[in-house]
Amino acid sequence: MSEMNPDPIVEESQNTSHAGEATDAQAGATSATSKRKRKKWPIVVGVIAAVLVVAGIGLFVWHEQPSFCSAICHTPMDPHGATYDQVVGQPGVDKWGNTVEDAGDLLVVKHKEYAGATCMSCHTPVMSEQVSEGLTWVTGNYTYPLEERSLTDLNGYNQHETEEGFCLNENCHNMTREDLIEATSGLTRNVHEGHATWACSDCHKAHRQSVNVCTGCHSDAYVPDGWLTVAEATKLEDASTAGNAA
Ligand code: HEC
Ligand code: HEC
Ligand code: HEC
Repeated sequence: MSEMNPDPIVEESQNTSHAGEATDAQAGATSATSKRKRKKWPIVVGVIAAVLVVAGIGLFVWHEQPSFCSAICHTPMDPHGATYDQVVGQPGVDKWGNTVEDAGDLLVVKHKEYAGATCMSCHTPVMSEQVSEGLTWVTGNYTYPLEERSLTDLNGYNQHETEEGFCLNENCHNMTREDLIEATSGLTRNVHEGHATWACSDCHKAHRQSVNVCTGCHSDAYVPDGWLTVAEATKLEDASTAGNAA
């Protein structure tokens, strides 16, 4: 872009002098013309630059707003925007449209209400990812409802080193894995200390109700209010994604 010459006349005169060895007189005449033409272009370029800067800032600011994601990729992301727009303490829906007694049970609503989270707090795609998402959207090459992402997937953009780092970091839950185990140590089946290693996002869901995976085998495992057992969650997921042509 820096190579671009805003004045085609100047460019032409340079080209001719390189190619055809123009005389001094010719060169002088051309540069006189360009001087006359030159007067207005700084103003025009200035105005264009100002417009671009303002538009750019506007786009950037809008890009940080939840409305951006839904407006740009309206069809596939509408349900995610809809879950976000709900209110703690009121009935709502999950990303598949299933009824949720208290919308505050969705982590996306809870984090909006209590931590002021926007889409960008949890989703910060790098530029290459945004471009590929844009292409995917244009070509329609995705399943709907969208395939569910894990925190490891999201870390690909958010650049946290570990899965748990997505939640446990100094800007969010400033605690260690040990603190976490301690926080739920009262449970018979301590969810954060299972004998198998579970991903945080196997249980904690943002755009739908969370599910305690321990209930898959232990019927006595703790299911907090607003959470689902594995059986309940599987039933909802199967029914909601049945139409998916993967
Ligand atoms: C509190 C963090 C958080 C916020 C805020 C958030 N998301 Fe998500 N998002 C997640 C997590 C975690 C997942 C993984 C799936 C899940 O848990 O539902 C996800 C998944 C997604 C997906 C991938 C499809 C899927 O279901 O996995 C899309 C698209 C998405 N979110 C869009 C949005 C949009 C749009 C907003 C803002 C209106 C938003 N998210 C706000 C955490 C968040
Ligand atoms: C087996 C299911 C399960 C897994 C896996 C899981 N959690 Fe939890 N987590 C829970 C349950 C259940 C609670 C208690 C929720 C409640 O009481 O409302 C909880 C509570 C929490 C809390 C709140 C703790 C507090 O201060 O009281 C945080 C933060 C948290 N989990 C983060 C994580 C992170 C990070 C991971 C991954 C390292 C993770 N969880 C893995 C089930 C799980
Ligand atoms: C795939 C099935 C399965 C899942 C899922 C599962 N467990 Fe287990 N768990 C078992 C089996 C099998 C045993 C062994 C039972 C025995 O020895 O009698 C066991 C044993 C235990 C024990 C030892 C005490 C006891 O009752 O024997 C604890 C504690 C426990 N599990 C906690 C958890 C927690 C917490 C989770 C969720 C993070 C979980 N389990 C998820 C199958 C599972």
